[in-house]
Amino acid sequence: MNYALESANPYLLGPYAPVFKEIVTTDLKVIGEIPKDIHGVYVRNGPNPKFEPKGHYHWFDGDAMLHAVQFEDGKATYRNRWIRTKNFIEEEQAGESLWQGLMGRLSANMDRPWNRGVPLKDTANTAVAFHNGKLLAGWYMCGDLYAIDPITLDTKGVETFHDTLDAKVMAHVKVDEQANEMMFFDYELTASYLAYGVVNGTGKVKHFTKVKTPGPRIPHDMAITENYSVLMDLPLIYDLELMAKRGRAVPVFRKDLPSRFGILPRYGDGSEVRWFEAKPCYIYHTINAWEEGDEIIMDCCINPEPTPQQKLKPNATKMDKLNAYLRLEAFLYRYHFNLKTGETKEYPLDDRKTEFPMMNSRFLGRKSQYAYNQHFDLSEKLRFDGLVKYDTEKQSAETYWYGEGRFGSEAPFIPKKNAIAEDDGYLVSFVTDERDGQSEVVILDAQNIAGKPLARIVLPQRVPLGFHACWVDGDRLFK
Ligand SMILES: [Fe+2]
Repeated sequence: MNYALESANPYLLGPYAPVFKEIVTTDLKVIGEIPKDIHGVYVRNGPNPKFEPKGHYHWFDGDAMLHAVQFEDGKATYRNRWIRTKNFIEEEQAGESLWQGLMGRLSANMDRPWNRGVPLKDTANTAVAFHNGKLLAGWYMCGDLYAIDPITLDTKGVETFHDTLDAKVMAHVKVDEQANEMMFFDYELTASYLAYGVVNGTGKVKHFTKVKTPGPRIPHDMAITENYSVLMDLPLIYDLELMAKRGRAVPVFRKDLPSRFGILPRYGDGSEVRWFEAKPCYIYHTINAWEEGDEIIMDCCINPEPTPQQKLKPNATKMDKLNAYLRLEAFLYRYHFNLKTGETKEYPLDDRKTEFPMMNSRFLGRKSQYAYNQHFDLSEKLRFDGLVKYDTEKQSAETYWYGEGRFGSEAPFIPKKNAIAEDDGYLVSFVTDERDGQSEVVILDAQNIAGKPLARIVLPQRVPLGFHACWVDGDRLFK
């Protein structure tokens, strides 16, 4: 099945083209040497449509496929599996696509069982996280969280946290590894609040509350500190009138509105939220946040001009629109929210265009110094041509370039055994070469990322470019 080759849609071609075989391969060819202390699983989520898309395909529409490399004793095993979501199973039974995608018309999905007011297929294709022994995959529009076996990648089903979850969940959950707690949020396209909750080490939702907003809001991420959570009310919002008129979702950037950051205690009631105002922007991903004196400091990647249509020429084709919609012009940015004075301070930390940040997840919620971001290539296709390590204290950066025609993936940090220094570890990334379709995993020394990779693991099939990844540490997995 290679319908993609018949299509002119760039997100079904080349390094984006879906793969159709689910395989497990051991004894992979390694150039260099895999450090023996790497023990666990690198897993990445991303779109991979099983059936020929119905209507115009957008990259965000594809069914979720997980690609993973399991490391043990210097050896690596590769696996890939689709996530068997409810909608995936339904389409598999039908033998064809049943849903129109993001660039299609909402009315075409009128006869489908909508996902709580969202007339799109809940694919769980966006992010993946590990908490309390469970690998969890989620969707960027707030959907079901799917529990996955981190070794076999088999789908176990929708995670309900022992029937304590009464919400959908946004893909970017935040795991505090030290407290063994997971924070999450949820929004609805027509509700004037953000829902927020905490799952603790019992595997149950132990706290759930709603935070009022001036209208429906669509944040993509949140942040946590040791004692607080940061929710976002950003001025990129769906215009519901325009949506009804055009029959599809249209995000509008309301430059006249501020960005607002709602800070509440981890177990605080929604009414306890304190809002901090800042310049209008949209934020896809935060890196970290922590408490320092009277302040909460938050590092993230911001987009000061998130409206894609502004960049289009008058004769723009449908494909230009699709590309522009994916365009991100984000850079590293820092906020200080002063809990005593209520003031916000904000400033850029760098001007390079980077996104899909990762950090040492053991430091999430605590003061951190390093971020590992993907650098955008010059095209508008959202491809990563390099990996930038930022040192936010020294205000310096170094870059590993993937090489001509080669594109990377979000690169999780793997701490070394008994590491104390925040950057004492490795970075892993799937790299796909658009020229010959060959993929590999590169392992970099996080303290010398611009140096030669420690190992390049040659993979048995192409790994299409995708979305978010995580590192599942063997010690957390097998204990
Ligand atoms: Fe994301």
